Amino acid sequence: MMQREFAGEASVTKAVIPAAGWGTRFFPITKAQPKEMVPVVDRPVVQYVVEEAVASGCDDILIITGRNKRAIEDHFDISAELNEHLRNSGDLKLLAESERLSSLANIHFIRQKEQRGLGDAVLCARQHVGDEPFAVLLGDVICVPMPGERPCTGQLIDVFRRYGAPVIGVETVPDHKISDYGIIDGTLIEDRVYQILDIVEKPLLSETPSNVGAMGRYVLTQEIFEILGRTKPGKKGEVQLTDALRKYPEMYGFMPKNTRYDIGDIPGWVVSNLQLLMQDERYRNLIMKVFSPSNIIS
Ligand code: G1P
Repeated sequence: MMQREFAGEASVTKAVIPAAGWGTRFFPITKAQPKEMVPVVDRPVVQYVVEEAVASGCDDILIITGRNKRAIEDHFDISAELNEHLRNSGDLKLLAESERLSSLANIHFIRQKEQRGLGDAVLCARQHVGDEPFAVLLGDVICVPMPGERPCTGQLIDVFRRYGAPVIGVETVPDHKISDYGIIDGTLIEDRVYQILDIVEKPLLSETPSNVGAMGRYVLTQEIFEILGRTKPGKKGEVQLTDALRKYPEMYGFMPKNTRYDIGDIPGWVVSNLQLLMQDERYRNLIMKVFSPSNIIS
């Protein structure tokens, strides 16, 4: 099998972050700013995603953007005036953070000129990625690994290196969410690892092959570009990554040891903020106080 050549090889160093969507589920927050810049606790969501890629060993990151996404580029760029101001005012902690942000990784940007779907966004990475395996991290998903575990993408890369074939991060999906996910048909072949036979984008509950769905992290190989190039628009009239994935001759699903926060819509964003605030020792007591029975007016 062609992909076998990657088994046991040096790690995956390229990551692609599709961040071109309109963010209509966040309107009007996203009228003038990208949804990837929506803050979660103390950082824009895209920063979590970039930091996960870097902590997973990817130092070359391509963010697929579109119009109205300049703020993402500015966030990871050097801000000379701000740094100068922080230096002059002796705010050295913030200066260090500002400098850390602009040197996290080699971050590149490319624009998806028309919003033709996730598959088309990934296809925009073709030239940049070349013939190397690469990770895809969806820009509206935050993954927090279980204590002692590698970041989610790193866990997928480990599985990719073991099997030498593309790996999709998966998780158990509740019935009422099945039609929001790409759902796999597969066989559990070892703890947390599925051999995938097929994957269907957003099936009806009555037609779903399982309750195991793609959770927003992938490790793919160059073959996906050729497949995407001939993939016709599917669900919602968009080129779906899922429709291309199902044409891979061999691929695996891996259920990472982590907690996933879905920032895809306002309820998910609100819940994620509260859950992450509760895990943050700087804010836990404050949140407990706000929600203590004596403060809740019924
Ligand atoms: C996308 C993918 C879907 C996947 C999901 C994970 O859907 O198309 O297969 O399960 O991300 O978050 P979206 O949420 O962009 O509609």
